[in-house]
Amino acid sequence: MPNAVGERQTSFWLRLLKQRRERMNEEELDLSQPIVWDSPEEQWSAVAFFNAAFRAEESGLRQAHEIAADVASHDPELAEALRLYGDEEGWHRELLTKFLAYIGGEIRPMGPTTRTFYKLYARAERPETIILTNLMFETIGATTYRLALRTAKPRPAVRQMLTILTRDESFHVPLNVHFLRRALERAEPGALRRLQPLYHLLTASLMASAAASRRRAKRFDNIPFPTLARAYAEHLGRLFTNAADFGFTPSRALLATVGLRRRDLVGYEDLTSAAAAERAADRSRVIVDAL
Ligand SMILES: [Fe+2]
Ligand SMILES: [Fe+2]
Repeated sequence: MPNAVGERQTSFWLRLLKQRRERMNEEELDLSQPIVWDSPEEQWSAVAFFNAAFRAEESGLRQAHEIAADVASHDPELAEALRLYGDEEGWHRELLTKFLAYIGGEIRPMGPTTRTFYKLYARAERPETIILTNLMFETIGATTYRLALRTAKPRPAVRQMLTILTRDESFHVPLNVHFLRRALERAEPGALRRLQPLYHLLTASLMASAAASRRRAKRFDNIPFPTLARAYAEHLGRLFTNAADFGFTPSRALLATVGLRRRDLVGYEDLTSAAAAERAADRSRVIVDAL
């Protein structure tokens, strides 16, 4: 696979990840003020929203550490980057555990759809399959958190939690683009072509998953289904419009279901670029805007 323009080496990412690790423990959630919910339904929905986030962190952490162990013998630098990345997801999982207790919730068993999905995902074996799935998850995670920053009722602790997640998942997107390129370099010939059906299936499934998440979480985040499904299509589309070397192009028909055309995806800042990653990497300097 040809190197994309402006692509950086693993050492670049490793340096950023090490910088981030030093700052990780300085950041604490301020959970001193209890939240007064408008209704028990709103609180229940908030617990569902952050449970979904918890499961994504847990899965990201496990997969990153598993791939790190697999690549350690031939690419120790990449293995270390994957471990540090997994540790960031582990830190998010810890924050979410505290946050869930604070909002009067607990870590719930997964519902049947989520469980099936994560079971299938856990069975994926090829690193490029796992990383592509994860990359698309990071993208919709960052999108959902950023939208929720605008639409959920503003409460300081909720904003702090959402800001941390938005900021870090935004950095994880270009990082996973790098991981995917490295994985494809070592994959069997034709691996990229074999990812095409998965890319289309995931795009459609993630857009559809917005419906299920609306049933559970909308009373908390106030994001209507059409807004969320469109935002998913838009952000996944922009990602691969910029990282064009993968050749992942969303289907026109699918885009049309949310009122988008392919040309609507062109001309946005390349969040996968090294410059964008560098900006997103320094936690203390990132300004998180709501979508
Ligand atoms: Fe995370
Ligand atoms: Fe992440």
